[in-house]
Amino acid sequence: MIHLSVHAGPEATADAAADLIANHVVLAQSARGVAHISLAGGTTPRRAYELLAARLADRERIAWWFGDERCVPPDDPESNYRLVSESLIAGGISPARVHRIRGEDPPAPAAGAYASELARNVPTDAGGVPVLDVALLGLGEDGHTASLFPGDPALDITDVWAVHVVAVKPPPNRITLTLPVLRAARDVIILATGDGKRDAVMRVLAGPDPATPASLLADANVTLVMDEAAAP
Ligand code: 6PG
Repeated sequence: MIHLSVHAGPEATADAAADLIANHVVLAQSARGVAHISLAGGTTPRRAYELLAARLADRERIAWWFGDERCVPPDDPESNYRLVSESLIAGGISPARVHRIRGEDPPAPAAGAYASELARNVPTDAGGVPVLDVALLGLGEDGHTASLFPGDPALDITDVWAVHVVAVKPPPNRITLTLPVLRAARDVIILATGDGKRDAVMRVLAGPDPATPASLLADANVTLVMDEAAAP
C-alpha cells in the first residue's frame, strides 16, 4: 500500500518527513523499546534530518542505520555518514547510536560486516530478515532507491541483507541494503522533491517493475512524502 503525502515545497516536505519519522520512533519505542531507523543518503533528506534532531524525545532508545553508503571515507563530501554527521549528529544525536557502514574498507567485506551487525542488533522476522521500524529512502530520477539501481542483479537477492554494488550514479562503489530488508520494514518512507522526480514517482505508483526499483517496495507499508513539484 502506498500512501501519498504532498506538501507545498521542499521545506514543508522536510517538516512533514521529520514529523512522520518522529511519530514512528515513539510508536516503535513504546512497542519494542528501541526504534531501528535506516536513513537515506543523497541531498534531499538533509533538511529533514536537521528538523528531526530537535523532535526526538528519547534519543537514547533509537538505533540509526543506513539504507546505503558510498565506498568513501566517513569525512568524504560524498559520504552519507558525513551527511548524517552534519545534520542529525550535529543536532545532538549520539554517534554511538549510529551504525555506520565502513565505506573506507574493501566493499565486499564491509557489506558482509554490516549485514551481520544488522542481523545481530535488529529483531528478525520468521524468515530471519531484520525488521527495521522505519526505512527512510530517497528516490532517484531513474527510480532507484538506496543503491538499488535498475537492472542490477542485487534486485534479485533474497537471502543477504547488504551487498556491494557498482552503480551508475557516482560514486560507483556502494553498499546497499537489499530488497528483503527494505520490504520487511514496518514503515517505508520515500522522500522526493522537485519536478525531476515526478516521472519516477509516476512509475512507482504504476506498480512493481524492476526497471523502477523503488516500485518493488509497493507491497510494503509505504508513505511517499513529496512536494507538489514531484507529485503526479
Ligand atoms: C544515495 C541515496 C540515493 C538517493 C537518491 C536521491 O546514496 O545516493 O541513497 O538512493 O536517495 O539518489 O538522491 P537526491 O536526494 O540527491 O536526489
